[in-house]
Amino acid sequence: MTFPVSDHVAKMKGSSTLIAAQAAADMRARGIDVLDLSVGEPDFDTPDFIKRYACEGLEKGLTRYTSTAGMMEFRSAIVDFYAMRFGAELHVAEVAASCGGKQALFNAASTILNPDDDVLIPKPYWVTFPEIVTFCRANSVYIDTEDTDFVLTAEQVAAAITDRTKLLIVNSPNNPTGRVVPPDEMVRIVEVCASRGVYVLADECYLFFAYPPAEPFSLASLPADLRQFVCIAGSFSKTYAMTGWRAGYTIANPEWTKAMIKLQSHSATHPTSFVQYACAAALRDADDTIAAVNAMTGEYERRRDWLIPELNNIKGFKCPMPEGAFYAFVDVRGCFGERFGSSGEVADHLLREAQIVATDGEGFGAPGFIRFSYATSMENLERAIEKMRGIFGTSD
Ligand SMILES: Cc1ncc(COP(=O)(O)O)c(C=O)c1O
Repeated sequence: MTFPVSDHVAKMKGSSTLIAAQAAADMRARGIDVLDLSVGEPDFDTPDFIKRYACEGLEKGLTRYTSTAGMMEFRSAIVDFYAMRFGAELHVAEVAASCGGKQALFNAASTILNPDDDVLIPKPYWVTFPEIVTFCRANSVYIDTEDTDFVLTAEQVAAAITDRTKLLIVNSPNNPTGRVVPPDEMVRIVEVCASRGVYVLADECYLFFAYPPAEPFSLASLPADLRQFVCIAGSFSKTYAMTGWRAGYTIANPEWTKAMIKLQSHSATHPTSFVQYACAAALRDADDTIAAVNAMTGEYERRRDWLIPELNNIKGFKCPMPEGAFYAFVDVRGCFGERFGSSGEVADHLLREAQIVATDGEGFGAPGFIRFSYATSMENLERAIEKMRGIFGTSD
């Protein structure tokens, strides 16, 4: 029997990043020692003080439903944290809790898109963006950013907007490129969209992983007249090494927020109650939280500073310095010729010959590129570089 999967879900593709992760898991299960540079998840454990807050929440009896929008304590902690960190003037009516950044993105897109609306997505993109658009029966319209070294500009957005455009999805710091759109350019992008009645869905899940001189910048700090066109998808997953906790939130105008809460009332309802408690307590404990985030950011930066020159020294590899997130997005077209005809073949070779798991750029809309995650130990990175030098040679 063929199961009649709905048309729009049948059209969705599986996540290529999870396919790479599965390849690594399968090899490990066969006893093979893999170097997994495909993971999009911090290699750190959740800071102990946040774990303790979750236990405290349980001890206080937070085991029941909360409001669908999230506990008032959670929402107001977000408002106060963004005021303290970014000078944002938010109201709790603009904040709703969600089960991770992914649900925040799904809530936002599903409550604004109608079938056949156009959604602008800068390329390369995080794999989930086009699939959410497909799920909403809308159309993904891509903006190629290779000419600007993968940093989206207001000019590119202005040129791409048409009467059918409803939404732009932006992600800075970016997965997969690690590039950061400078704050003044990001503001110009929102201004262009607002002037044409286009809304902006800003995935800020790597918000704090911006390396000096780049600085964390949130669209929450925009004045209210511009902010009304923006929905921020926020997440505790990467920033606080809490991927498994499934904690995220949206910041959007009160009407958009209300629609998302209505939708969520018929799906996940809300994130786990004692998780919300722990997240709120962590944000209130701003000194410890910021210190923990800074320690992780410092370590990612140290790895980045070592890794990128090493990658650029491998024959055929080219990688601009990423300003944020924890990914190196390498142009491997210099390796094409007799041995390799595509980035997929390069990634495949790395897997078979060196047991290095990396993600082919094809899934991010960027064939010819490979994404390496440096959310792994320095020792793994050193071993991976050693093996890649052996395979491709060096350019010095
Ligand atoms: C760009 C981007 N957005 C959102 C997410 C989702 O994160 P979560 O649902 O764990 O908050 C990820 C995870 O890899 C991501 O890379």
